[in-house]
Amino acid sequence: MRCGRLNVAAELDRYVLELKLKKIKLADKFELFDEYWSPRIVGELNGQYVKLAKFKGEMVWHSHKDEDEFFQVIKGSIVIHLKDQSVALHEGECYIVPKGVEHKPEAVEEANVMMFEPKTTAHTGTTESDLTVELEEQEWI
Ligand code: NI
Repeated sequence: MRCGRLNVAAELDRYVLELKLKKIKLADKFELFDEYWSPRIVGELNGQYVKLAKFKGEMVWHSHKDEDEFFQVIKGSIVIHLKDQSVALHEGECYIVPKGVEHKPEAVEEANVMMFEPKTTAHTGTTESDLTVELEEQEWI
């Protein structure tokens, strides 16, 4: 007997496997979506996801209790506000926000950003916001 839900899950697994076996062209991936602060998944390794997001405007203050978060600017510039300083990042620069540290990313103009974070990392940590995108809503592209 076939279960519709299982078929959808199996198809999704196949789709993700196909994506994993392909070279990732970041510029092409960024063409596939327009929403700000809405991470897309492009890869997975060692329990971590590789995510892409477009930043514009201000995120909310939040922290991730158990997870460090890696940000690399692919295009444009961003600022990662911390409670005691603000770190400006330009194209080709990256920064790791340590676990437990409150942060608020911001971009005056649209910026393209790549992030590495454990698969369990909640988008806005323990902070619920209109900007929060649940893990199960973050799609593979
Ligand atoms: Ni964060």
